[in-house]
Amino acid sequence: MDTVAHILKEKGSKVHKAAPGDTVLEAVERMCAENVGALLVCDAGKPVGMFTERDLMTGVILGRLNPATTTVGEVMSREVVYVEPTAVAAEAMAIMTERRCRHLPVAFEGQLMGLISIGDLVRWASRSQEFEIRKLTDYIHGKYPG
Ligand SMILES: NC(=O)c1ccc[n+]([C@@H]2O[C@H](COP(=O)([O-])OP(=O)(O)OC[C@H]3O[C@@H](n4cnc5c(N)ncnc54)[C@H](O)[C@@H]3O)[C@@H](O)[C@H]2O)c1
Repeated sequence: MDTVAHILKEKGSKVHKAAPGDTVLEAVERMCAENVGALLVCDAGKPVGMFTERDLMTGVILGRLNPATTTVGEVMSREVVYVEPTAVAAEAMAIMTERRCRHLPVAFEGQLMGLISIGDLVRWASRSQEFEIRKLTDYIHGKYPG
């Protein structure tokens, strides 16, 4: 069974972060430089929120706030939804659907281990399907002994 830990093994454990006092502009610069759509917001090493492209759209743009003076702490999503490394990919997808989030920090017993996105899960699912299809095609064409 494919678990979140499998996905992280391939993807790596690095988590890109922001501090609540960083300006939105600084956060966006980091997101663009790292090519990510979200940052985990940490205060003194402790996760306190997520700042995502959606927060930028709804909090900053729609609120007509100045990104150079607005802080991440003012517009971040305050609830951090986690997934455990032992969860299977389908469980992580269900959490994203139910909680309406596209990024999940991975943590076990309070220890941060990485972060997965909806794109990671879609890529993983499509690869698993490809593998299944290849196996079935080989079976139909008699590559396996009957
Ligand atoms: N080539 C790949 O391996 C790959 C993987 C995932 C997504 N994508 C593509 O990127 C685009 C957007 O993807 P998305 O909607 O999943 O979101 P995204 O742009 O936020 O994620 C892109 C990648 O960055 C990682 N990432 C995002 N925020 C991170 C953070 N704070 N710390 C560490 N890693 C972080 C994700 O896990 C993912 O691997 C889509 O077009 C998707 O197809 C490509």
